[in-house]
Amino acid sequence: MTPILSFKDVEITYGSKPVARDITFDLHEGEILGLVGESGSGKSTIIKSAMGLLNSSGYVSKGEICYRDTNLLALKESKMRAIRGSKIGMIFQDPGAALCPIRTIGDQMLESLKAHSKINKSEAKEKALELFDNLNFRDPEKVWKSYPFELSGGMNQRVSVALTMIMKPEILLSDEATSALDNISRNQVIMELIKLYDMGTSVIFVTHDIDIVESICDNVLVLKDGIIREYGNAKEVINNPQNDYTKHLIHCTRSLRGKQLWHMAAK
Ligand SMILES: Nc1ncnc2c1ncn2[C@@H]1O[C@H](COP(=O)(O)OP(=O)(O)OP(=O)(O)O)[C@@H](O)[C@H]1O
Ligand SMILES: [Mg+2]
Repeated sequence: MTPILSFKDVEITYGSKPVARDITFDLHEGEILGLVGESGSGKSTIIKSAMGLLNSSGYVSKGEICYRDTNLLALKESKMRAIRGSKIGMIFQDPGAALCPIRTIGDQMLESLKAHSKINKSEAKEKALELFDNLNFRDPEKVWKSYPFELSGGMNQRVSVALTMIMKPEILLSDEATSALDNISRNQVIMELIKLYDMGTSVIFVTHDIDIVESICDNVLVLKDGIIREYGNAKEVINNPQNDYTKHLIHCTRSLRGKQLWHMAAK
C-alpha cells in the first residue's frame, strides 16, 4: 500500500548548514508515528518541511517528500495551500505561530472552515464549541469571542489544537501539542487526538514523553543531530533499544521519572 506520507532521503538546510540528513521514513494510513530526540535534533524542522513552512532561510536541499503519489516539493504554493490545513494539518510547538493576534478565535475558526468547505456560521460555531468543551474549556462561548492575548498560554495551545482538529485532516503533524498543559488538559488533548486517529487520521507525534510514545504510537523514530538513530516498532524500540543514543535517551527519561516518584513518596 502506498504510504500516505513518505520522506525519501531528505536533507534540510538553513542558510548553508544542513541540519537534517538522510531522513527516510513512511507514514501509513491509520498509523501514529512518534518523533523523539533531544532539543535541537531537528524534529520541528522535519515536520515543518512537510507543510512547506520552513522559514525563508530553510529549504529541502535533497530528496522527496510525498503525500500519497505527489511530491510536495514540486507543488506550486497555490496547490500546497489547498493541501495545508485540510489534508495535512499541523499543531505548532509555539501556538502563537498558528494564531492571528488581532482577530477573535471565532473569526479564525470560521475562516479556516470556510476556506475548505461549505459551512454556515452557526454550524461552524456549534462544531467549534463542542470541540472547546471536549478540550477542557470551562466557557467555550467566551473562548469563541476572545482574542489570543486574552487567553493563557495553555489555553492558546488548546485553541490551536482545536483549529487544526476541526479541519479533520488526513495527516496530523503534532509538535509537542501538550507541552504547556496541566495533566487534565493534556489528557483531554490526547483523548481528542485519539478520536481523530479513530476517524482515520494518520499522525506524526513529536514529543519528549517516552511514556506517551509507548502507549499511543505504532512506530517511533529517534533523532540526534538531524540523523535518524533508530526507527521501528515503538514498544520494541523502547523496551529493547539497539542504538546507544536511544538507550541513553530512555535511561534519562526513566531515571528522571524514578526520581519524581521517589520525591513524591518521600513527601
Ligand atoms: N529558522 C531557523 N534558522 C536557522 N536555524 C534553525 C532555524 N530553526 C531551527 N534551526 C536549527 O535547526 C536545528 C534543529 O532545530 P529544530 O527546531 O528542528 O529542533 P527540535 O528538535 O524541534 O528542538 P526542540 O525539542 O527544542 O523543539 C537546530 O540546530 C536549530 O538551531
Ligand atoms: Mg521543536
